[in-house]
Amino acid sequence: MRKHKKAFLLLSIFCISAFLLTQCFNNQITSTDPRGLGFAGSSTCRQCHQTIYDAYVKSFHYNTTQPATKQSLAGKLDTDNNHFAYNDSTSVLIQNRDSGLYQAAFVNDKEAAAHRMDIQFGLKHAYTFLYWKANQTFEHPLSFYSSINNWATSPGFSPVQVNFNRFIGANCFECHSSFIDKKLNASTAGIEEVLDKNTLLFGIDCERCHGPAINHVNYHNAYPEAKEAKYLTSFTTLSRQQKLDVCAMCHSGNKKMQDRSTFQFRPGDTLSNFFITLPEYDNKTSFDVHGNQYQLLSQSKCFMNAKTLDCSTCHNPHTNTTNNVKANSSACINCHKEVTHETLKLTTAVLQDNCIDCHMPLQPSNAITFQRPGDTLRSAYMLRTHKIAIYGSNKN
Ligand code: HEC
Ligand code: HEC
Ligand code: HEC
Ligand code: HEC
Ligand code: HEC
Ligand code: HEC
Ligand code: HEC
Repeated sequence: MRKHKKAFLLLSIFCISAFLLTQCFNNQITSTDPRGLGFAGSSTCRQCHQTIYDAYVKSFHYNTTQPATKQSLAGKLDTDNNHFAYNDSTSVLIQNRDSGLYQAAFVNDKEAAAHRMDIQFGLKHAYTFLYWKANQTFEHPLSFYSSINNWATSPGFSPVQVNFNRFIGANCFECHSSFIDKKLNASTAGIEEVLDKNTLLFGIDCERCHGPAINHVNYHNAYPEAKEAKYLTSFTTLSRQQKLDVCAMCHSGNKKMQDRSTFQFRPGDTLSNFFITLPEYDNKTSFDVHGNQYQLLSQSKCFMNAKTLDCSTCHNPHTNTTNNVKANSSACINCHKEVTHETLKLTTAVLQDNCIDCHMPLQPSNAITFQRPGDTLRSAYMLRTHKIAIYGSNKN
């Protein structure tokens, strides 16, 4: 009798475990991500991290590349200005055709070239566009700039000659997307880079910063009661340099010689291992404000003297920054409660509300200049310097 009871108990335990096991396997997701088996994709994160997810999908990071559509360019197409005159006979027009949005060059009113705007790059300050030709991408001659709310020449493009031939390689995608597979083919013209269109993952997704997370997703689906994150690198365990490297992967300029694709970078990795030389990491050099926030910040006394300061001290990685200087100044005041500004004759209100404009002034980018239609001056592209310092005529 006792034996039977024991056997029955064992059998029940077996059945229940088998049932639970199939339940977890039913919930297991298998990856279809072009990056490989370890990746789950951002949409799977929403189930458990809804607040972060819903905020993040609206961010500049998440949308820094996307298909160019009438929706993505709402309000930018119906201006009278969506063209650029190169001279009396030549101009480029942005056109809304049945098969998509196009940039088309006209010479004496006859179409000389037309390409579809397939991919949109950038969001906060400027949009530039690429088109696919076979398995390569090329940049369009015109870009849209928020500062002038208008179209002008793409950065570095000629204002006198139409150019549809600027090749764009995987390098741009490494900082502006989550993945694209590239191959190097030997051709008569030398080594040629080709991209696999089907593997492109637009925007910067969760796993670009957090690393592959499919095991994390499957574990927490199987054990919903578990409160401690598993199978994921926690930022709380990283050193300051490791935390900085996650942002510096894309925010330390694009003139470095790469050894490996940063698509392979995972939180906790050492960024310098991805580059052959690191001229831009040399503190003595001066950096352009465009994209070099890491180097500029590293030159600040705040960074050198406050060993805990990193990008997250002032930025929430999941939401956009605000241009509210008062809100932005609160991070400064946290560390600088005692600052007196004895030499400045300004009201305390001005001084207290806005540390940013004096100590992180807007500066023109040398890397990005563009030309407006009918304008002989090259327009500047203004960005906040991250070299926190004493600027201006009051400097002592
Ligand atoms: C089935 C639920 C579940 C899903 C799906 C899920 N997570 Fe989590 N995650 C958790 C739990 C539980 C924690 C621990 C508690 C917390 O920090 O919220 C956690 C914590 C984290 C942390 C903080 C780790 C730490 O210790 O600092 C990160 C980062 C994270 N998840 C990223 C992701 C990403 C990226 C995805 C999508 C690819 C994802 N999670 C999907 C349940 C989930
Ligand atoms: C994979 C590349 C990549 C990584 C990693 C990355 N960024 Fe960015 N970041 C970009 C790009 C590209 C933009 C430009 C977005 C646009 O098109 O407007 C950007 C824009 C920004 C902006 C300006 C947008 C705004 O909200 O004002 C901030 C701030 C920023 N990043 C901070 C960070 C921080 C902090 C980290 C690290 C936690 C980080 N980024 C990691 C590529 C990256
Ligand atoms: C640009 C890089 C970047 C991206 C993209 C990113 N994160 Fe994070 N995430 C971070 C950093 C850095 C931290 C640590 C923040 C800190 O230390 O204050 C963090 C912390 C977290 C945490 C734990 C802390 C918290 O606030 O609960 C979770 C959970 C998380 N991220 C989930 C996600 C999810 C889900 C996505 C996509 C929807 C995502 N992250 C996209 C950089 C990123
Ligand atoms: C090393 C990383 C990196 C590479 C490579 C890179 N970018 Fe960027 N790009 C960034 C970052 C970071 C920003 C935003 C930060 C800033 O403005 O300082 C940005 C900004 C932009 C913007 C303006 C976005 C906005 O609205 O703020 C455009 C457009 C752009 N890049 C296009 C390109 C194109 C096209 C290429 C290739 C020729 C390229 N980028 C290569 C990192 C990179
Ligand atoms: C984590 C703490 C911390 C934060 C946040 C911080 N600082 Fe600092 N800052 C310091 C330290 C420490 C020094 C060095 C003080 C010294 O040398 O006596 C410093 C130095 C400075 C100096 C003197 C620079 C020079 O070249 O002489 C200025 C100006 C300054 N900070 C302004 C700011 C502003 C503005 C912000 C916000 C954008 C800010 N700080 C954010 C810690 C911080
Ligand atoms: C001491 C505070 C502080 C720290 C630390 C800091 N930032 Fe910023 N950052 C700001 C402020 C303030 C702005 C301006 C926001 C605005 O006015 O829109 C800004 C703006 C930016 C922008 C947008 C530039 C533009 O003009 O659109 C980028 C990109 C950025 N930060 C990246 C980073 C990265 C990457 C790091 C770490 C290497 C970092 N920041 C560290 C305070 C900080
Ligand atoms: C109108 C421009 C202006 C504004 C606004 C401003 N500063 Fe300054 N700051 C200066 C100048 C100029 C100096 C150098 C002369 C001096 O110390 O009076 C300076 C010096 C400093 C110093 C180094 C000297 C010291 O006393 O430690 C720190 C730190 C500093 N400022 C932080 C801040 C913070 C934090 C805010 C916002 C609460 C702020 N500043 C607002 C212009 C400004």
